[in-house]
Amino acid sequence: MKKVLVTGGLGYIGSHTVVELQNAGFEVVIIDNLSNSSLEVLDGIIQITGKTPLFEKIDLRQKSEVIQFFEKHQDISGIIHFAASKAVGESVENPLLYYENNLTTLIYLLQACNNYTIENFIFSSSCTVYGEPDKLPINESAPIKKATSPYGNTKQISEEILNDFCKVSNLKSIALRYFNPIGAHDSSKIGELPLGTPQNLVPFITQTAAGLRDQLSVFGDDYPTEDGSCIRDYIHVVDLAKAHVVALERLLKNRNSNQFETFNIGTGKGSSVLEVVNAFEKITQQKLNYKIVDRRVGDVISVYADTKKANEVLGWKAENSMEDSLLSSWNWEKKVRNIK
Ligand code: NAD
Ligand code: WQD
Repeated sequence: MKKVLVTGGLGYIGSHTVVELQNAGFEVVIIDNLSNSSLEVLDGIIQITGKTPLFEKIDLRQKSEVIQFFEKHQDISGIIHFAASKAVGESVENPLLYYENNLTTLIYLLQACNNYTIENFIFSSSCTVYGEPDKLPINESAPIKKATSPYGNTKQISEEILNDFCKVSNLKSIALRYFNPIGAHDSSKIGELPLGTPQNLVPFITQTAAGLRDQLSVFGDDYPTEDGSCIRDYIHVVDLAKAHVVALERLLKNRNSNQFETFNIGTGKGSSVLEVVNAFEKITQQKLNYKIVDRRVGDVISVYADTKKANEVLGWKAENSMEDSLLSSWNWEKKVRNIK
């Protein structure tokens, strides 16, 4: 059984990926500092898979702890690196936190790859690296424009660090550029649990329907789109998790065509904010209290993935629709809030 390190493995996307890795027969060791997650997630993973991943509570900014970890686990075949800070607004307020957490953690892990002969590395990148696209759907060779937030900049710089390091080492790396992950595991045993007020659309919708928030604000209906609201590519978190397993296997079997590769991970279909709101109401039979307000600063108008490369080269395709994802998000919210 191959052993895989999953950093940030108790977080939203990490936890779903740990489930898929264990289901695929990998032995998983998780590092998380619990800064944006809780130990209860581990119980959910165990209940779903019947397997207990190893867990080490480590802050990856502590270099000595990272070294100690690799001294102890000398049989790691690959790393999937999720651990990072991810709130765009917070990154504008506190850029150094973001540059420190998102870049030093990556560098310490890559140094460990060098020192402990680990050759396979999957990185959580984001469609945010593209900024406002010139052409839609957007493919992997689209230009990387100047980042609009320190968070986005950390993803661009991380990809450059990986690319540079792959040129001078034996490391093989894949950066998966996620579009907008939503949804929860079908079992409702793990899902997205944002601390405080949600910044993202779908958790705000489900919390409004659950009565935790009075009203959803729809940020703008005067964009140059069909209904005037912004368009995104909403990808089910379980489909996204499965992409990591496929990407890791590609590297483990040396099927990669370059030392550093990037893949868009989305559905290929764009949905507007108002389409998401309407779909949620239809599927869940919940009336959503929402109001159109001003545009949110920094939002791109429309972005959705060209998934050809992921489909044909990686051999991965999203299976769930936006509607499937919304239903799983709602089931998860109901479970968390004890709503029948
Ligand atoms: P998350 O916050 O739910 O998970 C990240 C996990 O990493 C958390 O459990 C947190 O406690 C842990 N962590 C953070 N800093 C750490 C550190 N220094 N040491 C150890 N653990 C640390 O976030 P997520 O939504 O699961 O995102 C995972 C990755 O995917 C991140 O890199 C994020 O930037 C990227 N991403 C997320 C989205 C999205 O919309 N959720 C989209 C694109 C890319
Ligand atoms: C989606 C749409 C909002 C909340 C962010 C990051 C991106 C990536 C994914 C990490 C937009 C609208 C939202 C609300 C609304 N993360 N909206 N009311 O901004 O596409 O992407 O998460 O890499 O980097 O920027 O996602 O869910 O915040 O917004 O109308 O209360 O919903 O304007 O059009 P976004 P989101």
